[in-house]
Amino acid sequence: MGPKRRSQRNLCDGEDVVVKRARIEESGWTGVNERTFIAVKPDGVQRRLVGEIVRRFERKGFKLVGLKLMQASEELLREHYSELRSKPFFRGLIAYMSSGPIVATVWQGLDVVKTARKMLGETNPADSLPGTVRGDYCVEVGRNVIHGSDSVVSAQREISLWFRQNELQSWEDNCSHWIYN
Ligand code: RTP
Ligand code: MG
Repeated sequence: MGPKRRSQRNLCDGEDVVVKRARIEESGWTGVNERTFIAVKPDGVQRRLVGEIVRRFERKGFKLVGLKLMQASEELLREHYSELRSKPFFRGLIAYMSSGPIVATVWQGLDVVKTARKMLGETNPADSLPGTVRGDYCVEVGRNVIHGSDSVVSAQREISLWFRQNELQSWEDNCSHWIYN
C-alpha cells in the first residue's frame, strides 16, 4: 500500500474508501485557533470519567469542536502510536486501547496543545501532580485514562487521522471576549 492510498483510507471506520479527512490547515490552526486531540481511553470511559474530563477542558475556556464515542480499530491505533512501535509495551498498549470504546475529542484555543498536556499530567501517574487528570484519577502508566497530542504537528496528524472534516464543527463562541482580551 503506497502512501497516497494510505492517506485515503478511512481508519476511523475501517472502510477502504476515499473520505474527506479533517484538513490540516496550518495557517488556521495557530493562535486562538490552535487545536489538539484529546481522547478518553477505554479505562476512562469504563470508570465514568468522560464528563469530568470534558468539564475540565470546558471550564478552562477551551472550545469543543469535535466529540465522538467510538471503538478504535487496531489498525487506527497502530497508526496513531506508530512512533512507539518498537517499544516493548507496544502490543499491550494496542490491546489496552482497543479493549473498549474511546471518547475522541478535539479542543481549540490559545496554546491548547501545551496547556492540555499540563492538564493531563505526566505519562506515569505517579509523577503527575494532584490537580492533573492523571494525578487525580489513576495510578499506573498502562491505565492512564487520557491521551493528549504532544505537539502542534502531532495534533494536526492525529486530528486528521481520527476525524473527518465534516465531524469538526466551526461555531461562533459567544463568550470568547470573556476568555481572550
Ligand atoms: P499519550 O500519547 O497516550 O497521551 O501518552 P504520553 O504522550 O504521555 O506517553 P507516550 O510516550 O506517548 O506513551 C503512550 C502511552 O503508552 C503507554 N505507556 N506504557 N509500560 C510503559 O512503560 C508505558 N509507557 C507508555 C501509556 O498509556 C502512554 O500514555
Ligand atoms: Mg504520546
